[in-house]
Amino acid sequence: MEYGRSKLSVDGVGMEYIERRKVPRNKKDRGKKQGDRVEVLRDITLNIYEGEFVCILGPSGCGKSTLLKLIAGFLKPTSGSIVIDGAEVDGPRPDNIFVFQEGGLFPWLTVYENVALGIRHVTDEKKKEGMVGEYLEMVDLTGFENHYPHMLSGGMKQRAEIARALAVGPDILYMDEPFSGLDFLTRLHLREELVNMHLYIQKTTLFVTHDIDEAIQLADRLVVLSERPSTIKMNYEIREPHPRDINAGSLHDIRQQLYLSLGVHYTL
Ligand SMILES: Nc1ncnc2c1ncn2[C@@H]1O[C@H](COP(=O)(O)OP(=O)(O)OP(=O)(O)O)[C@@H](O)[C@H]1O
Ligand SMILES: [Mg+2]
Repeated sequence: MEYGRSKLSVDGVGMEYIERRKVPRNKKDRGKKQGDRVEVLRDITLNIYEGEFVCILGPSGCGKSTLLKLIAGFLKPTSGSIVIDGAEVDGPRPDNIFVFQEGGLFPWLTVYENVALGIRHVTDEKKKEGMVGEYLEMVDLTGFENHYPHMLSGGMKQRAEIARALAVGPDILYMDEPFSGLDFLTRLHLREELVNMHLYIQKTTLFVTHDIDEAIQLADRLVVLSERPSTIKMNYEIREPHPRDINAGSLHDIRQQLYLSLGVHYTL
């Protein structure tokens, strides 16, 4: 696809946390004391175009979720700036909604009510019904409106979460390892569905994953972070059109590079 304008620019962003615990949560920080500063991100510069699907990879604890939270405005960077549509991010925006691993649905609400929650400001019931119906159809959950989350499979729950996020009409879709709690085959199906959905809605998406094949199938742009303090180790555009055959020869080199950049030298 051809990209138009720049959607998001991250410019020289650094992020430090202040260690609040007596015993740090991460074993790499064993020497740190309460009150010490922990540098997580260093000089992150990134330009993302409108409609791009961006996959963010990197070792555990390197700051992938932190980067998403900074872009969404839930955290403030220690240095640098983040600009979305020409305006600097200075706090959370109401349409920011994250899709995490399973578990984000309210168990006491039906699928319909969960999706409708994000558009509770829509007072016209008919209109709301139409909107919820449209998003449930998009994720192939028509007919499950009155089910409660415990009546759904893991994959269906994740689809309901995606519908809920889309219904809010987010400017950017944030997905933080959304499929990592699912079994292998369900993941493959959801990946395919996400590709189709993205082709249809073309929404700028930031998607954190540890799965290299998932990234190769989904990403228009791959961003790999290094160990902390994390810098950008790789920022690579994949121009292969969607849907992709991830075993295609043209994707072989990029897969190899990705493994190498994540520190794996021998792959099958
Ligand atoms: N609120 C906080 N206060 C102090 N340190 C924090 C806080 N949140 C995260 N950290 C530390 O910042 C680092 C980055 O955390 P983050 O959750 O962004 O990593 P991640 O790349 O998403 O990891 P994972 O792959 O395990 O999800 C970690 O070492 C974590 O311990
Ligand atoms: Mg994370």
